[in-house]
Amino acid sequence: MNEANIYIGLMSGTSIDCVDAIAVTFSDGKIHILGSHSEAISTQLKLDILRLCLPGTDSIALCAETDNVLGELFSQASLTLMAQLNISPDQVVAIGSHGQTIRHQPPNKVKGFSVQIGNPSLIAARTKCAVVADFRRADMALGGQGAPLVPAFHQRFFHEQNSCRVIINIGGIANLTILDGGDQCNGFDTGPGNMLLDAWCFKHKAKNYDDKGAWGATGDVSKPLLNQLKKHPFFSMQAPKSTGREDFNLRWLEQQIENFDLKPEDIQATLIALTAETITAAIAALNQSIDDIFICGGGVFNIELINRLNRSLYACNQPAVKSTLDIGLDPKWVEACAFAWLAKRRVENKTGNLPAVTGASDTAVLGGLY
Ligand SMILES: Nc1ncnc2c1ncn2[C@@H]1O[C@H](COP(=O)(O)OP(=O)(O)OP(=O)(O)O)[C@@H](O)[C@H]1O
Ligand SMILES: [Mg+2]
Repeated sequence: MNEANIYIGLMSGTSIDCVDAIAVTFSDGKIHILGSHSEAISTQLKLDILRLCLPGTDSIALCAETDNVLGELFSQASLTLMAQLNISPDQVVAIGSHGQTIRHQPPNKVKGFSVQIGNPSLIAARTKCAVVADFRRADMALGGQGAPLVPAFHQRFFHEQNSCRVIINIGGIANLTILDGGDQCNGFDTGPGNMLLDAWCFKHKAKNYDDKGAWGATGDVSKPLLNQLKKHPFFSMQAPKSTGREDFNLRWLEQQIENFDLKPEDIQATLIALTAETITAAIAALNQSIDDIFICGGGVFNIELINRLNRSLYACNQPAVKSTLDIGLDPKWVEACAFAWLAKRRVENKTGNLPAVTGASDTAVLGGLY
């Protein structure tokens, strides 16, 4: 039997769309994808997670139960992938499991916290593999945001000497990484990605997301509403910054639209514009000459969103977006790959955070080993 060299990355993001599982190896400074699998999240589980995400609906029992339900689901995602690829536990060095975020409170005047659930002990017991989880808290213990964590991965695999690259990840939340072509790497959350789009689409169309942005494309953007939404204080905050469902959720949106009389599709179009234009504004504010912009995350499949993003980037003299596929990684799997790599960093006792991104006072080895 060869020495174990496979890492599995598990990502279940703020969109609560599905559990992404990927099996990879690392060699010659490259990442090699062996295979991938997406495990569905049931409607009941999604509703329970959404309940846990909203301040004021806390239930310790529901949290602990959901921790176990997610632990079983993450195990299933890993086991299905391993069976598909004929991988045995002794070939796997570790599974890196991001976990499901149910609360994210970056530090400001009070100490911050970030809670990811999905019982890692259970994943270890079911899969018979070592599991790395709880990636955010070591950074937060050093005063960091604990997020975003993917910029270090982007730097490792997407850096190009003497070329300034921006990587945009549009998941539930959108985040940027700026690779300056030298040794600088910066990054931060820009605000909502797909989260509000999904929530509004679910409310009016009973669909988890607006396929290709086709529904949103039938609406007209309301400038007055867009301007009001942009007044959310998160957008004008200086980095380091990170956000989550606490800041941007259906409840917030419904308060915002109270005094507007708009068709649902106009609101969807306005939300698309909000994501596109706040990402563009964050890029323009960098005041850097950018060579290439690459995009990843489920937002790449929203054609209307990408069209709008390209239009607003063009208006700000920025390059049009390309897919991370052009630099070697399928946009759907970048985040899961990042957590496979972060697991490797933990196993090798190497640091995983970038203080310039998270604001932590020092680098840290991220995650606990189960
Ligand atoms: N065909 C599609 N058309 C429109 N949107 C899509 C399509 N496929 C996926 N998406 C969007 O992508 C989302 C999932 O993206 P992704 O998995 O990158 O986000 P995430 O799990 O929230 O991760 P993150 O941690 O980065 O927030 C879906 O909820 C949906 O909004
Ligand atoms: Mg996802």
